[in-house]
Amino acid sequence: MVEPAGVQRGLEDVVALESRICFIDGRQGRLIYQGYDIRDLAEHSTFEEVAYLLWYGRLPTASQVADLRQRFGQLRALPPTLAEQIRSMPLTSSPMDVLRTAVSALALYEPEETKPGSGSIGGAQRLTAALPTIIGTFHRQRVGLPPLTDRPELSQAAYLVYALLDRDPTDLEARAIDVALLLHADHELNASTFAARVTASTLSDLYSAVTSAVGTLKGPLHGGANERVMELLDEIGTPELAESVVRDKLSKHERIMGFGHRVYKVEDPRATILREWSRKLGEAKGNMRYYELLRKVEEVVHREKGLYPNVDLYSGSIYSLLGIPHDLFTPIFASSRVAGWTAHVLEEYQDLRLIRPTAKYVGATDLRYEPVAERTG
Ligand code: ACO
Repeated sequence: MVEPAGVQRGLEDVVALESRICFIDGRQGRLIYQGYDIRDLAEHSTFEEVAYLLWYGRLPTASQVADLRQRFGQLRALPPTLAEQIRSMPLTSSPMDVLRTAVSALALYEPEETKPGSGSIGGAQRLTAALPTIIGTFHRQRVGLPPLTDRPELSQAAYLVYALLDRDPTDLEARAIDVALLLHADHELNASTFAARVTASTLSDLYSAVTSAVGTLKGPLHGGANERVMELLDEIGTPELAESVVRDKLSKHERIMGFGHRVYKVEDPRATILREWSRKLGEAKGNMRYYELLRKVEEVVHREKGLYPNVDLYSGSIYSLLGIPHDLFTPIFASSRVAGWTAHVLEEYQDLRLIRPTAKYVGATDLRYEPVAERTG
């Protein structure tokens, strides 16, 4: 399709605003949060430290991170009526639909945090603490697990595993999830963060912004891709069939989920780190099936299309090795990205400018109005 002159479809390469939160060097394959390389953060840091970094612009001291951990523990519980509403939602619902609805509903109980500006840092911490509880409350109901308790002694990563699986993770599992969470915590103006900032730029509240973001993350071209990666692996079955299945899909112009990126022209650094965690966890569990299949798929897609893996390629294999069902992968992504969404909303409030692009009109302008009785079809 020929684009009208001056239109940047998908806002590609449009610089929409200034931000101090996150920098992506798509040519060097670097990702920076508030000045720190993601590889250093993945090696040495935790999700709690990264959330603090995104919100406050500096790494926390030991006591600041301990306070934040304690605060998350205090903020996990949902209002009992909301927990009951979540348990009464249709059990066949998509967990992302439940999450979107519950985030929106939570705002009704927390009027202070929904005032744009003043209460927003409290709201950011509240939402980050509560998202795993929302997902866990729904999932436990549909599979018949007992209700959640707050478990304030657990990190966000360990609490997430407990909320979804009703068991504590091993140290290796907890660290794998912790790394996955911190790697997903922000990614500049990705579609869901942009949606959050558009909502906030109207001076709407933080919970509305996060509701917009959850709805945007749900799409398979964004957060929904990791679920589809695991569906592909199920379809392929064994590494020997990877070549033919992938080539067949490419010949039909189907997209292979977990590959390609709007910004990265080389390998997404998050994929590099998660590939290693997928291998490590696979070895520890004596199950290298996902890792071997993914390596084979990578080889074929790179050879045939020159595409590199993105963050979604290996994350699903890590969640699957823990026994987490596929339809919880995108909600897990949300429970990490909420730190970035809210950091961006806080930044938007500090430098507010209504986000409102224009469209190049390509429709008619001089049609003659016909009264309804005269219209023939
Ligand atoms: N599989 C096959 N072909 C692909 C893929 C893919 N995953 N990604 C891009 N291509 C091809 C396109 O078909 C297109 O080819 P063409 O020029 O012959 O038509 C070319 O590469 C460019 O693709 P665009 O869609 O223009 O690139 P864009 O920057 O818009 O796409 C996107 C980025 C949406 C992520 C794309 O790569 C994609 O659909 N990937 C699969 C979904 C996915 O993994 N999403 C997760 C992204 S990371 C995240 O959101 C957390």
